[in-house]
Amino acid sequence: MIHQTPSRKSFSAAILDWYDSHARRLPWRSLPGEQPDPYHVWLSEIMLQQTTVATVGPYFRKFLESWPSVSDMAKAPLDDILTAWAGLGYYARARNLHKCALTIARDHKGVFPDNMSGLLSLPGIGPYTAAAISAIAFGKAETVVDGNIERIVSRLYRIRTPLPAAKKEITEFAAKLTPIERPGDYAQALMDIGAGICLPRNPNCSVCPVSSCCAALAARDMENYPVKAPKKIKPTRRAVIFWLQRPDGHVLMRRREEKGLLGGMMEFPSTDWVEETLETEAAVEHLLQGQSSNLLNDISVRKQVRHTFTHFHLELQPVAARLASPEKLELDGAVWIDPREFDNHALPTLMTKVVKAVLESQ
Ligand code: ADE
Repeated sequence: MIHQTPSRKSFSAAILDWYDSHARRLPWRSLPGEQPDPYHVWLSEIMLQQTTVATVGPYFRKFLESWPSVSDMAKAPLDDILTAWAGLGYYARARNLHKCALTIARDHKGVFPDNMSGLLSLPGIGPYTAAAISAIAFGKAETVVDGNIERIVSRLYRIRTPLPAAKKEITEFAAKLTPIERPGDYAQALMDIGAGICLPRNPNCSVCPVSSCCAALAARDMENYPVKAPKKIKPTRRAVIFWLQRPDGHVLMRRREEKGLLGGMMEFPSTDWVEETLETEAAVEHLLQGQSSNLLNDISVRKQVRHTFTHFHLELQPVAARLASPEKLELDGAVWIDPREFDNHALPTLMTKVVKAVLESQ
């Protein structure tokens, strides 16, 4: 195969032609020729970070039903946003979503800024999201580079620098290809090609509209790109997590601190998440902090829960017990919740896994 260095004009023309007949229909995309609503673009881009297109669809629809405009979202209590977000993970995004809606309502009269510096000044909007909103919602020729686009560009040019250091180089190459015309369609076309054709394994180069200018295809080593720095091994942290039930069946929960992982989300009380394993008895002692162990009845160890966060694996060992005199247990910030009401609280996925494990292994 003869490999040609891509030129902006022919490359973007091939990409846009392909998009006109192959674009995925996604709930946040406008119809051809229609200008998309910046609120829809912003909401979808925040939801799509670290989450798949298939997962986001129903959440996106539900959010628009509840809050048809950014000003509606600004008026909503944060708790409602967190509850609606439950299951999407990375809850700092939901807090920033709300903060951003408040800022737009308060400082921008409910209208999204249409330029990079205005967008970048908003909570939760970094270079990727600002470029995506600028290009897709406002037709600005900004260069959008997500993980899929990194893969495409690194293959086109056989970029040998490993990620994440290669980000800057990849963005510079990508910028040389970004067209003035239809930059939003162009960015979304690359996203679709990355999601369906230029796959990490077994890329489907025979249907790629820009295969003739791909250096990696010419060298038949597509799967070597992007080059990645060796992964750091994630440590495993462990804790005992308590399912403490009152005689009426309500279970003890508390709200996590606002800052940090799962900030402000509801959780069952647990010991600290540490690398050492803690025996059940020591964990119970820690929970009771010197109070009588007679407080807990029918103590039973339930099925272990595993969860992986960005920087570590977590193994939670649920321990269930009944409390005859719940008022005697002194725990800061504790609330008693009826398990039938869990859906009304913003339970993060980790805690829904705990609920499932406890109920399955009674
Ligand atoms: N991933 C992030 N943004 C996207 C979009 N607008 N379309 C498809 N996938 C995406």
